[in-house]
Amino acid sequence: METVRADVAIIGAGGAGLRAAIALAEADPKLRVALISKVYPMRSHTCAAEGGAAGVIKSDDSLEHHFNDTVGGGDWLCDQDAVEYLVQEAPKELIQLEHWGCPWSREPNGSVAVRPFGGMKKQRTWFAADKSGFHILHTLFQTSLRFPSIERYDEYYATDLIVDDGRCQGFTAIEMRSGQMKRFQAGAVIIAGGGAGRMFPFTTNGAIKTGDGMALAYRAGVPLKDMEFVQYHPTGLPNTGTLLTEACRGEGGILVNKNGRRFLQDYGMGPETPLGKPVFKTMELGPRDRVSQAFWHEQKKGNMLPTKWGDCMLLDMRHLGEKTINERLPLVRDVTTSYLGVDPVTDPVPVRPVVHYMMGGIHTDIRAATPLAGLFAAGECACVSINGANRLGSNSLTELLVFGRRAGLSAAEYVRSARPGNDAALEAKATAAQARIRSLFEKTGGKESTAGLRKEMMATMEQNAGIYRDANGLSEACTKLGELRHRYAEVELNDKTNVYNTDLLQALELGSMLDCAEAVTVSALARTESRGAHQRLDFVERNDTKFLRHSLAFHHPAQPPRVDYCDVVITTSQPGVRDYSGDHK
Ligand code: FUM
Repeated sequence: METVRADVAIIGAGGAGLRAAIALAEADPKLRVALISKVYPMRSHTCAAEGGAAGVIKSDDSLEHHFNDTVGGGDWLCDQDAVEYLVQEAPKELIQLEHWGCPWSREPNGSVAVRPFGGMKKQRTWFAADKSGFHILHTLFQTSLRFPSIERYDEYYATDLIVDDGRCQGFTAIEMRSGQMKRFQAGAVIIAGGGAGRMFPFTTNGAIKTGDGMALAYRAGVPLKDMEFVQYHPTGLPNTGTLLTEACRGEGGILVNKNGRRFLQDYGMGPETPLGKPVFKTMELGPRDRVSQAFWHEQKKGNMLPTKWGDCMLLDMRHLGEKTINERLPLVRDVTTSYLGVDPVTDPVPVRPVVHYMMGGIHTDIRAATPLAGLFAAGECACVSINGANRLGSNSLTELLVFGRRAGLSAAEYVRSARPGNDAALEAKATAAQARIRSLFEKTGGKESTAGLRKEMMATMEQNAGIYRDANGLSEACTKLGELRHRYAEVELNDKTNVYNTDLLQALELGSMLDCAEAVTVSALARTESRGAHQRLDFVERNDTKFLRHSLAFHHPAQPPRVDYCDVVITTSQPGVRDYSGDHK
């Protein structure tokens, strides 16, 4: 098998992967960096981030405020040493992006503008209109082109990590253009493959977010941490699930129910303030878990508006005026007009909660290192535990910058002393991985289709693992996913050709999603408490005595995962009550 040799190989070329690659190239220009991506890097999902990236910059703000908002927002499940590192590094990373050419929006006096965001009690979200992810991704991509040591492998799908001698030494990947399998041999591997929201049917996530990076690490023995914490974003377009950024509310948009009431004041996020005031009470800027949960309760009370797309609330931005909407929210106007036929300048926009982000992921420490030597992870696929049980909007772009860089630096340090691998042993493992893929082509008479199983998986997740959960639904989901795992072995490919075989790709992606989905439901069933985005109707209280701990799901090829726990790192903030009744300034 053709072998590509690198010092460090990165799986995923979105924000985290690109940032890691740049950090490696800057740390040591002699390191050969292989950057592998399922899609052309500019199609990575970072591009879809809209509202901005959090980092302290204004004089009324402090690192301590950012830390406290993040830890409280995460319902104290965050590792506080990791959050300290995040908030310290955040402004440096955002200024670094500015120097690399990111066109941050400005105040009239020319300084960087920030906007309020949910659960953040100070304004600290840097933004580039409502296309922040697009501009960040472009900035990182263009910067990466300066470094000859970064070699790109676009449109490659990584199938298996190669672990030998107790450490990760590379992986196999299919070049999608040719269908050829290649072996990437590297002293260290960084996974930056993004989230897994596509296991749900209604999501802001692009079609590529199928948990492949998480599944790679998981199958190689690395646990997936805190997978039960799935974030719903309160404002998705009701038909497509497209994100309507929290910046709509950060700029002053309001949410009303079918009676015209700003219902969030009834859920501990009030009291209501007049429109257009420069100081907002929390209200629409509550944290995402609480706001999405309020939608659920309003639906039970019959307060949502029935529409042809299902029950909705209304996001009213009319009072912002056309000039502000065009300047600050141009993508929002474009998207609502194009996909719903609703212009936010003249009409309220129907919205409903939508799966947006996985707080859980590959278990890493503060250095972005996994428990498997030689393997690092960063970005949404990783769980370094800065998000805890509920991520605050605009912390994820910051996270992928801070911990993408950290992963690059850690990998650079690791490979300095890594022993050379045993070529024959690595080749044998790659050949076994190739045989697994070949066997998919050889299967005939298969009774199952990828599309059919995917549909059943999504329906199960939506039905049983949504905003509110209980033991009955989660048990049903676990049973169903176990059944799907068995039936998955019966999937037969319709397309047995090599070139851009999307049938094969989708079958492999389904395998990743099934693994991630099982980790979500089994971990959720085991966590008999309510915390952040994990709300149990049958265990409504937070239980710090039993569950102020991270869950760790360990893969088993033929059985449901085993769930274990590890401690949360607490430095200065003891678990308390989350209070969102105050001001945003
Ligand atoms: O609403 C948004 O713009 C999303 C931001 C985020 O998820 O961080």
